Amino acid sequence: MKFKRKSKELDAAPGALATVQQLLAEDTGQQVMEQMFKFVEMEHLYESAIREVKTKLEILDSEFRTKYSYNPIHHIEDRLKSPQSILEKLQRKGVPFSVQSVKDNLQDVAGVRVICNYIEDIYTVADLLTAQDDVNLIKRKDYIDSPKPNGYRSLHLVIETPVYLSDKKEMVNVEVQIRTIAMDFWASLEHELKYKSDTDVSAELASQLRDCAETIAATDKKMQQIYKTLKEID
Ligand code: GTP
Ligand code: MG
Repeated sequence: MKFKRKSKELDAAPGALATVQQLLAEDTGQQVMEQMFKFVEMEHLYESAIREVKTKLEILDSEFRTKYSYNPIHHIEDRLKSPQSILEKLQRKGVPFSVQSVKDNLQDVAGVRVICNYIEDIYTVADLLTAQDDVNLIKRKDYIDSPKPNGYRSLHLVIETPVYLSDKKEMVNVEVQIRTIAMDFWASLEHELKYKSDTDVSAELASQLRDCAETIAATDKKMQQIYKTLKEID
């Protein structure tokens, strides 16, 4: 099997790049430098918010291990949206290219993905996280209760949490996706399909993937049931 490198980074969002080039041509060097510094500060802010949220999740998980010898979280992943994707999304939404606009219009610059063992763990983690004093729930989408037509399942939260800097406190949005190992396995394969352009093959594969999503959902439910029964006879 061959691994193909995606050309996405190079040719995406030509419009956004043209706008940036235009800004560079119009602005004075001073203004460009100011925007760059603000951008770096912004990245630091979102990176810090990711660390805050991950620490909260790790503390919850280790408390469960200490108290109940059980880990609701299998593992955690995170990602900071790339400058390229930020530009693309600002352009798609038709909003200004500025740091303030990123803060006002994008909720997924900071992303944390929580992979759990069982479906019930997802709701436990979500409830405990959003119950914390310094976590505000901005948006909640339950794609487990209402899966996407393609079969996608996960619980999505957008939360807001404070980051303390030397001279101020900033509230920062973090997108948290919570799913089981099986849902994660499915989503990574489905993600691959998005990059394929052969529509006939894609339609057939999409239909097979929808079937897999149903099988996986049924298996997740069964595994949860077996686990519960095991605990009862413990
Ligand atoms: P966008 O972030 O602009 O897509 O808009 P939204 O706020 O409607 O996002 P949503 O909560 O539906 O999804 C956000 C993220 O969840 C995406 O960036 C993906 O990481 C993931 N996601 C959502 N739908 C799918 C899907 O059908 N397949 C896969 N593999 N991932 C998905
Ligand atoms: Mg997104």
